[in-house]
Amino acid sequence: MTWLITGGAGYIGAHVVRAMTGAGERAVVYDDLSTGIAERVPDGVPLVVGSTLDGERVTRALRDHEVTGVVHLAAKKQVGESVDRPLHYYRENVEGLRVLLAAVTAARVPSFVFSSSAAVYGMPDVHLVTEETPCAPMSPYGETKLAGEWLVRATGRATGLSTACLRYFNVAGAAAPELADVGVFNIVPMIFERLTAHEPPRVFGADYPTPDGTCVRDYIHVTDLAEAHVATARALMATPGRELTLNVGRGEGVSVREMIDRVNETTGHALPPVIAPRRPGDPARVVASADRIATELGWKAKHDVQDMIRSAWEGWVRLHPEAGTTTPGR
Ligand SMILES: NC(=O)c1ccc[n+]([C@@H]2O[C@H](COP(=O)([O-])OP(=O)(O)OC[C@H]3O[C@@H](n4cnc5c(N)ncnc54)[C@H](O)[C@@H]3O)[C@@H](O)[C@H]2O)c1
Repeated sequence: MTWLITGGAGYIGAHVVRAMTGAGERAVVYDDLSTGIAERVPDGVPLVVGSTLDGERVTRALRDHEVTGVVHLAAKKQVGESVDRPLHYYRENVEGLRVLLAAVTAARVPSFVFSSSAAVYGMPDVHLVTEETPCAPMSPYGETKLAGEWLVRATGRATGLSTACLRYFNVAGAAAPELADVGVFNIVPMIFERLTAHEPPRVFGADYPTPDGTCVRDYIHVTDLAEAHVATARALMATPGRELTLNVGRGEGVSVREMIDRVNETTGHALPPVIAPRRPGDPARVVASADRIATELGWKAKHDVQDMIRSAWEGWVRLHPEAGTTTPGR
């Protein structure tokens, strides 16, 4: 099998490429390098530089590399930016997907995996979010992911394409320092950034209805997430016409305050957090039920939060050497 991995030069995509090739699959990366880094693509894996909006280039890549499956990670992913630039997000994430699916179905590629997000759920008022929990995204970014799922499932039903929509929860960590997330959009790099500047980490809201008053999330190591793609790819190959919608999380809630404590422990910093006002649109608790993916694919996360922080910190220090020089606080 040869898998075209769109967004394969990105943070998660680079891990998916390694997991797929490590499992014996062939991979080709398709990426416009808008946020991706060409050096993340391993030797021996072809890189086609192009946008998913360019149907001719996609069609050529599918044909030239005799592609038999697609993992579609390429997208814009910043919630705040999507509020300011909704048209850009709909064009990249929804129109880009439509063009890609048109090329995929015309080329009769049989399997398609789509990167969705826990952002499709919005503010779920449940202890554990199952795939049946109603979707009510709170941002244009989340809307593009939900619209993407509709498009993927409808195309699968109309054409027989095997499809999977993977709803990632909060992704962190790295398989190697050079593969770490370089953006500062998630809690772990946000805490690192503050500690590096010798400033206390910020907690946005400490009056939520949670055990310690701070928001609770479900964190997943990017290596585990990448392995979930391998399991998904295998399941789609084995059963033509399959349709999967799966949460990819650990089913364990970790609060912002706990996360800051664990980062301090791991990095040797010891700055207590400061409390800032709530951010609009932050749900109190979003934790996955990971039962369906365990039943359907036999997949279960192996890494804990400490593994995520430790590996993310190694990547952070590589890019910010000054971060590691602070006198350890404990
Ligand atoms: N990082 C997270 O916590 C998280 C959580 C849920 C879902 N996701 C989804 O996972 C996917 C990957 O996210 P990431 O964190 O690796 O982001 P990233 O920005 O590191 O990777 C995205 C990649 O896609 C490429 N790309 C963007 N638009 C493109 C286009 N139109 N054509 C071709 N290539 C394009 C970029 O150059 C980049 O290499 C995205 O679909 C994102 O929405 C991420």
